[in-house]
Amino acid sequence: MCGIVGYAGKNEVVDFLLSGLYSLEYRGYDSAGIALVCDQGALEVVKRAGSVSHLDEAIKTLGLNACTGIGHTRWATHGEPSELNAHPHVNSDNTLALVHNGIIENHYVLREELEAKGYVFKTETDTEVIAFLLDQEYKKLGSTDMPQALINTCKQLKGAYAIAVCHVDYPHEIFAARNGSPLVCAQSNQGAYLASDMIALAKYVDELIVLDNGQFAHLKSDGSVRVFDSQINSLEHQTMQVDANNVPAASGEYPDFMLKEIYEQPEIARRIVDGHFKDGHIRLDGLNISDADIKDTDRIFIVACGSSYHASLIAKSYIESVARIPVEVAVASEFNYQDVLVSEHTLCIVVTQSGETADTLSAARKIKGLGAKVFAITNVIGSTAAREADGVLYTNAGPEVSVAATKTYFAQVLAMYLLALFLADKKEKLEPQDIVNAVSSLRKLPQAIEDILKDISSYEKCAEVCEGARSALFIGRGVNYPTASEGALKLKEISYLHAESYPAGEMKHGPIALLEPGFPVIVVIPQDQTRNKTLSNIEEIMARGAQVCALATEGDEQVKESANYTMFVPAIDTDLTPLVSIVPLQIFARKVAFDRGQNVDRPRNLAKSVTVE
Ligand code: G6P
Repeated sequence: MCGIVGYAGKNEVVDFLLSGLYSLEYRGYDSAGIALVCDQGALEVVKRAGSVSHLDEAIKTLGLNACTGIGHTRWATHGEPSELNAHPHVNSDNTLALVHNGIIENHYVLREELEAKGYVFKTETDTEVIAFLLDQEYKKLGSTDMPQALINTCKQLKGAYAIAVCHVDYPHEIFAARNGSPLVCAQSNQGAYLASDMIALAKYVDELIVLDNGQFAHLKSDGSVRVFDSQINSLEHQTMQVDANNVPAASGEYPDFMLKEIYEQPEIARRIVDGHFKDGHIRLDGLNISDADIKDTDRIFIVACGSSYHASLIAKSYIESVARIPVEVAVASEFNYQDVLVSEHTLCIVVTQSGETADTLSAARKIKGLGAKVFAITNVIGSTAAREADGVLYTNAGPEVSVAATKTYFAQVLAMYLLALFLADKKEKLEPQDIVNAVSSLRKLPQAIEDILKDISSYEKCAEVCEGARSALFIGRGVNYPTASEGALKLKEISYLHAESYPAGEMKHGPIALLEPGFPVIVVIPQDQTRNKTLSNIEEIMARGAQVCALATEGDEQVKESANYTMFVPAIDTDLTPLVSIVPLQIFARKVAFDRGQNVDRPRNLAKSVTVE
């Protein structure tokens, strides 16, 4: 959440700052701002409420230029989204400007201390505390030593931060610090760069310096970056190549990124299956896990948030049914406060498309602290989760721009199906022929999804079921109960229509009381062993005058006759039904949101990378 950028170099900085902020908008888009150290030695700060485009328009009219600057796109934590609370924040002399991603947990105490010393706060943010503390520490050192002042400031902060600072005393330099929130820098003959994410720098450099927690950076306009610790010792750079494939392209022929990303799913399925099946076996080389470790594993913990959590619930069914290993799935923010029982025979997996979700990273660190190994399933190469884990399974879905996860969720479910087969193979729970058969079923998946995507109008028509509704219920059973949950999450996050999911059999224990004429219930009912029981649920819903939109297997005329609306999906192996069922639900949610006039790619209040706990 929140994106930061910075540059000190030979070139004018404004274009870079804006282009960097545009590419980081997936991290937050409620306000944006930049600070420039102009050639005359003055600090110019421009901020606007709303998206980066508002800032862009404002800057155009000002005709500013400078070669050193920092920028920020915000997802509000403390203080409403407004121009006042937008970053950068400055000291009262207007000599120092600072941008921050993270949360300062002790900001109340620090604010009181600073107020007692005469500092007058103008904003409601936690970040202004850092700007004033730094001002105080810098002046205490005779206004001569910014690196030490930054270290002294950070020592007083509790919480997560990535910070970038510029100061009129250092017109060609930027200072940065990292603890918890991601930050990368880069050196080049054009200047030195920093950003929250590689995406912002990909057009400018080939190699990144990845800052670790507790590290500081000093960027100079000669293009150099010095990384140092809290003792001012220079540190070796930890570098990473920029992955050009992980830079989002435009939405092209599609009206929005969400639809583009939905349409990428068949290709992703091909890529994942082809990439991991060799000589009759599933190969997950990056996981870096020994056969002995797998043989010893008697329990698996999977920890995740949001859509990744739903994908993990499906993985639990897969792993338990084919590899016969008990699996516990936890929401990361809850897991962090649980008294978890982890032994040397427990395998822990964190699932996170961004690889940066703060709660998930904390969970991973907690598991490591308990002595267990942690494996990450992530979409972002070189992300914090990938770097900190003992092994990684990349989902290779390509960059996802739309905030609501579609293709990355799909890729996670598929990758974890392969993981289940892999574990089953190593544990000798499946015969070699079973693996070959499972993979040949998987090879039918891309075509099945292409068939769905050939003509989406029948799925879009089903959006009518939500016309005039204030709430919607999604039900499913077994491996498709998480599908119903993911469908409900998609709908609520982009259309703002309240939606919740229930295991279909639980409906009679509460949610049935919600039913009244017209109430929409989306029922996931594939042809599997639970189909007849779910059909009874449909009858119970219809008997109460509510409306049913059934998601059924092609040819299931009985379901079609029982429901008001039907979304058919091609018949496929039962294990794979979550992978085909989710696609119409994505299309459905997008259409409901579209009909309600919402921006499907940028739902309010949400961010794609949730870097605060
Ligand atoms: C945010 C995103 C969701 C995502 C969740 C977990 O809420 O909007 O799409 O599922 O974070 O993110 P992760 O990167 O850990 O999968």
